[in-house]
Amino acid sequence: MIPALMPTYNRADLAFERGQGSWLYTVDGRRFLDLGAGIATSSLGHDHPQLVAAIAQQAGRVMHVSNLYRVPQAERLAARLVAASFADSVFFCNSGAEANEGMVKIIRRAQAHGGHPERTRIICFNGAFHGRTLAMLSATGNPKYLDGFGPVVEGFDHVPMNNMNALRAAITPETAGIMIEPVQGESGVNIADPRFLQEVRAACDEFGLFLGMDEVQSGMGRTGRLFAHEWSGVTPDVLSTAKGIAGGFPMGAILATEATAKYLTAGSHGTTFGGGPLACAAANVVLDVLLAPGFLDQVQTRGTQLAQVLDALVDEFPDLFAQWRGIGLILGLRCLVPVGLMQDAALHEGVLTVTAGDNVLRLVPPLVLTEEDCAEAGRRLRRAALRLRAHQAASAEDAA
Ligand SMILES: Cc1ncc(COP(=O)(O)O)c(C=O)c1O
Repeated sequence: MIPALMPTYNRADLAFERGQGSWLYTVDGRRFLDLGAGIATSSLGHDHPQLVAAIAQQAGRVMHVSNLYRVPQAERLAARLVAASFADSVFFCNSGAEANEGMVKIIRRAQAHGGHPERTRIICFNGAFHGRTLAMLSATGNPKYLDGFGPVVEGFDHVPMNNMNALRAAITPETAGIMIEPVQGESGVNIADPRFLQEVRAACDEFGLFLGMDEVQSGMGRTGRLFAHEWSGVTPDVLSTAKGIAGGFPMGAILATEATAKYLTAGSHGTTFGGGPLACAAANVVLDVLLAPGFLDQVQTRGTQLAQVLDALVDEFPDLFAQWRGIGLILGLRCLVPVGLMQDAALHEGVLTVTAGDNVLRLVPPLVLTEEDCAEAGRRLRRAALRLRAHQAASAEDAA
């Protein structure tokens, strides 16, 4: 019989009762180091005092009013995001997929109302992940996610990442813009080459295209900068973000330049819940933390420390791991054995991780991970690798 909760996820048999910092505790008292952060989302970890207080306080005042009225928390958050980024204007929504849908709508509308209604197509990249709505499945282009969901939404073309010849060849008179993740998370932590991003920007300028960056996963401090594109020196015209923006409270945002955002006039786009007082109160606290002097530098330091952990694993276990890659606190360990086995071994040692494409174990911990948490991650992941090696040896013996 089908479970009451639709079985769209293969869930681990674990239920957490509470958390503290980068640690989660099960109902039966077991303790886990959370290197997954609810898929790169619990940016301030668990039970963050200011975040909890802001949500509780806001919930006790007013939780929802709709966008028919002014929302001071949203106005403040938007102004702060504008001040801290390339953007001139911000739209708040509820998830990454919704932010990406809006980003594509902005790009198309800016072309249509800017005199080029024929420009509707968006160039996307192999290995991309943009979400699960019908259009974003199409933008993602992965047949695994499209199976059985009917005709793909028209208007998305795909080319390989870091290949300028392929990209230029794909640009047609119908191309409206380019949508790229500066760091592809779901397909295995693949970084867009900064030079490639610079050339993509140049091509957009040359052909009158808009550059949209999907920073749903890589944004809001994850790479040690507020947004990952800052590492390349390239600025987009539009950017989507979500996941960590409100520390685990559901929220997404679209950041845009005036040149693109000005076409999204009253009534042209909307959302009931987006930019509500509760989500914005949470996101303002996240921004307080991210923009505090030294915090993003600390994310970089912690990223280097965690990368050293992965480096040591690759060195000591060349039979299990091929390489690590990533930037800041979005790191991937490419495994030579099925990644699920390493994830299980880590779980046995009390470490939560996420998998990604290309047989990669993905580490996207809370941005508040401490030095001691990192050291503990090193000890536990090493024990997990030893456990996995022993398991591999036993299986080989059984097979012989
Ligand atoms: C880069 C990127 N874009 C979009 C999404 C979709 O976000 P959501 O699940 O919030 O709709 C994800 C989710 O993993 C993502 O990593």
